[in-house]
Amino acid sequence: MSQTANFQRSTWSSRWAFILVTIGSAVGLGNIWKFPYMAGSQGGSAFVLVYLVCVLLIGLPLLMAEIMIGRRGRGNPVSAMLKVAEEGGRCSGWGLVGWVGIVGALLILSFYSVVAGWIVDYLFKALSGLRLENAEAAANRFKALLADPLQMMLCHTLFLALTVGVVARGVIAGIEVANRIMMPGLFLILALLTVWGGIAGDMPAAWDFMFAFKPEAITPAVILAAVGHAFFSLSLGMGAIMAYGSYLDRQSSIAGTSLWVALAGTLVGVLAGLAIFSLTFAYGLEPAAGPGLILQALPLAFSHMPGGQWFGVFFFLLVLFAAWTSAISLLEPFVAWLTERMRLRRPVAAWGTGLAVWWLGIGVCLSFNRWSGHTLFGLNLFELLDFMTSRIMMPLSGLAIAIFVGWIMTRAQVLDEMQLSGLPFKAWYLVLRYLAPLGILLVFAHALGWLAWLGWLA
Ligand code: TRP
Repeated sequence: MSQTANFQRSTWSSRWAFILVTIGSAVGLGNIWKFPYMAGSQGGSAFVLVYLVCVLLIGLPLLMAEIMIGRRGRGNPVSAMLKVAEEGGRCSGWGLVGWVGIVGALLILSFYSVVAGWIVDYLFKALSGLRLENAEAAANRFKALLADPLQMMLCHTLFLALTVGVVARGVIAGIEVANRIMMPGLFLILALLTVWGGIAGDMPAAWDFMFAFKPEAITPAVILAAVGHAFFSLSLGMGAIMAYGSYLDRQSSIAGTSLWVALAGTLVGVLAGLAIFSLTFAYGLEPAAGPGLILQALPLAFSHMPGGQWFGVFFFLLVLFAAWTSAISLLEPFVAWLTERMRLRRPVAAWGTGLAVWWLGIGVCLSFNRWSGHTLFGLNLFELLDFMTSRIMMPLSGLAIAIFVGWIMTRAQVLDEMQLSGLPFKAWYLVLRYLAPLGILLVFAHALGWLAWLGWLA
């Protein structure tokens, strides 16, 4: 690959490599930590069903759109949007969408790294043989971590350094090699854990909880939560997929690749859910425990399992790998911009950006304890960053991307880059022109509370 040539962008060594890294970006804390707790507290199977439909109807088409823009523009999200807009004779202001993405990605990374730091902490705990007697002990353990800013900062620093280290080595040398080792390992560990869930856990109950058809439980709130989560779990709207797509060669089929990514990502989420819920039910734990579901309930389950210590170690390793590959994709877009636009050397760009994200993350660590009293609109720093990115920036830039491909890019441009025809193209194009913008607008309006004000959603 031509990393030495200045202006020629390097490409992934194979289509399979691209699929692996994109799966690596999509599958993360969102699938393994957030998906089970959201499903657990949002009506179980109702949430799962709507989530799956959303992934198929909005997520998949947007995934294809982002890869396409990245490959067409052959650059970081800002210059890719700019180039594609200018090529079609459109306003260059569309580069702004790329900006919202790369800045949003860094904001997400600052707290994503702190949450991943919790996983690092629990990995250490599992390695040193943590045993929890009951649910109360598990809750206290988690509370103790939140009350210990230094420990959180240490783990956050460790995780971020791992992430920056990979990005600093460059796309081919760092990201691809890391994903090649990590993704198959992730699937293997997950498969093992799910088999274990089948042996030691209550798999029928987990299956029923996740897949029993309960149409009456599908409320507007569940639908909107599921749309939002489909977005987050596929890494959409923040330029991450665009940045990866820019390294994709012209021969690979975007539709086929996206299908693989959405399928594999969903499979990981479903497997993780089955494993987690079967253990949760077998040990009499509460599926609606909220964000603490994994960090409170699972160590408890592991404590009462023969050989549970090593299962704990395996499990936290799995989550850590998944979070790592996602974090890499959150850092890459801005680093790509710095190297391409500002001509910074990659290690300088990566470590410099890492330092800024690290600082913000330190604030996030403090927002759980010393600074918990400092709030804006009633939200502490952690909640504020999450709110700004998930509820505002992600839907907004996803909406813009759908409009960009559906209405701004010329049809000729889209046809040429997608190499898709017939019914699949028509369906995809229609979704991007009408369904996706409308769906996202609904989520966005809900996030801002407009619909609630109107009294549509109580
Ligand atoms: N999709 C990842 C997860 O589920 C998180 C993530 C990585 C992400 N890159 C992203 C979310 C870009 C939004 C945008 O954990």
